[in-house]
Amino acid sequence: MNERYVHGYDPRENARLQDQAGTLVDLLHSDTSYPAGSVVLEAGCGVGAQTVTLAQRSPGARFMSIDISPDSIAQAKRRTDAAGLTNVQFRQADIFALPFDAESFDHVFACFVLEHLSRPVAALAILKGLLKPGGTITMIEGDHGSAYFHPASDDAQRAIHCLIELQQAAGGNALIGRQLYPLMVEAGFDAVHVSPRMVYVDSSKPALVEGFTKKTFTAMIEGVRESALAAGIVEPKAFDAGIRDLYRTAGTDGVFCYSFFKATGLG
Ligand SMILES: C[S@@+](CC[C@H](N)C(=O)[O-])C[C@H]1O[C@@H](n2cnc3c(N)ncnc32)[C@H](O)[C@@H]1O
Repeated sequence: MNERYVHGYDPRENARLQDQAGTLVDLLHSDTSYPAGSVVLEAGCGVGAQTVTLAQRSPGARFMSIDISPDSIAQAKRRTDAAGLTNVQFRQADIFALPFDAESFDHVFACFVLEHLSRPVAALAILKGLLKPGGTITMIEGDHGSAYFHPASDDAQRAIHCLIELQQAAGGNALIGRQLYPLMVEAGFDAVHVSPRMVYVDSSKPALVEGFTKKTFTAMIEGVRESALAAGIVEPKAFDAGIRDLYRTAGTDGVFCYSFFKATGLG
């Protein structure tokens, strides 16, 4: 893992990951399902925000969910236990040092993980080596350059750019969604297909206003305030104005747009 995982692991961030996953279930997972009997590796499961959906949607499949953070794994386990799921096993592991034999899995899934890795192609190549012949990979990533909104605001774009810069400084890439196709091709996957998933929010969709504009996206940007100020890349007044303007897009006349990218490939 990058030494400075940009979002951190505090309870507010964990709650944000849950809000994000809950809000985006249909958009991101309506077409995620694995056949009964298949064995699926979930790489970078975090606090299990996607794990519950994956395991519920494919009750006959068996999931091995790994993350580098033992605390996150413990929370993920509590979450799947609370949901009564018995088809998930957890293990603390680093994607770059996985304790599995080659060709152990029928499918691999990862969501919002590649963006934090300094060697995304190397990670993809490792995951490819774990797939049985004909196995599939599914990667989901965001792209913070895809955020646009009404009212438009330079301060808000500047605040978003702080996260992009911090993530880059930590070795990651907050603009990785648009690069999934070339990265997966470079890692050697066949039949790579990318499906952009746009979130469009206006005030006729109050659940998305709360769950996505406020609690997922703006909360994520707000979460890097201290790091951005400490790095000296923005003035407090400018950052706070940007956050205010992002919340402003959740008003009755506001609109917020963002694109995720879901990529699949054959190992
Ligand atoms: C933004 S979270 C996403 C978690 C989850 N997939 C979700 O969608 O909510 C990124 C996760 O990747 C994990 N991670 C980062 N680098 C890793 C590595 N080298 N090996 C395993 N997990 C890693 C972090 O610990 C964190 O839990």
